Amino acid sequence: MSAPVCSVTIVTGGSRGIGRCIVERLCADGHAVVFAHSRSDDEAAALQTAPHEAGFVAQAVRVDVATDDAASRLFDAAEALGRVTGLVNNAGITGRIGAFADLTDADLQRVVAVNLLATVRLCREAARHWRGRGLDAAIVNLSSVAARTGSPHEYVAYAATKAALETLSIGLARELAAERIRVNAVAPGTADTTIHARAGMPDRAVRVAARIPMGRAARPDEIAAAVAWLMSAQAAYVTGAVLPVSGGL
Ligand SMILES: NC(=O)c1ccc[n+]([C@@H]2O[C@H](COP(=O)([O-])OP(=O)(O)OC[C@H]3O[C@@H](n4cnc5c(N)ncnc54)[C@H](OP(=O)(O)O)[C@@H]3O)[C@@H](O)[C@H]2O)c1
Repeated sequence: MSAPVCSVTIVTGGSRGIGRCIVERLCADGHAVVFAHSRSDDEAAALQTAPHEAGFVAQAVRVDVATDDAASRLFDAAEALGRVTGLVNNAGITGRIGAFADLTDADLQRVVAVNLLATVRLCREAARHWRGRGLDAAIVNLSSVAARTGSPHEYVAYAATKAALETLSIGLARELAAERIRVNAVAPGTADTTIHARAGMPDRAVRVAARIPMGRAARPDEIAAAVAWLMSAQAAYVTGAVLPVSGGL
């Protein structure tokens, strides 16, 4: 049996988009990573293999983060690899793009369950694991500029869950600071990922480019770089921050 690896980080939604870049970047920075995905098996398998060949550890766990036991399953898998000191709550969905009056109950419940309830549960699991251990642990929650703009005519309920994640991050940062647990949020602007196709507008990143002061959507690795910095010792005195990575939006 191989020796346990130090410094394991859990990343939810690691198989595609921003999460995939976060996994790759954290592996390159020396983290062993356990990442969750709910159905994209081919992408997850490819992501497990690539870092492994480069000498890094990235292990996929197929779990819907909205299920009751997702947090304990992810922590169990991560603890089998070594000492867990990081959590990145990245998995998120927008629901169908469109007018607020057309929001379905099914979409509303799913958006709240995946974006908010799952993140709260994972943060709670982390707080329980890390309480009293003085580990210098870190959490980053993926918000969105939608928390500030409200995303009118697109996905207001999604925006509301992201605003809630920012409040959660600030409150937890203050409550857990004495436990040496840092909690921050990253608020991306539009990034060119598969989230928009799932919302019903695959070319959204191109469509909104003109509204962005820098004139283009983000590359997912530009968001991952901000997350990696907040997870690193270089951000040792940063907690309760919401960092926009949005091209000036
Ligand atoms: N892209 C943007 O423009 C943008 C802007 C602002 C904020 N964000 C935020 O950034 C985060 C990542 O977005 P993205 O654009 O990279 O999304 P994406 O391309 O749709 O990727 C989402 C990832 O999350 C996983 N996932 C989704 N639901 C899950 C669930 N219930 N359980 C486990 N894994 C799940 C997906 O894998 P499976 O399909 O296998 O589940 C996939 O790996 C989200 O929180 C999003 O709100 C994105």
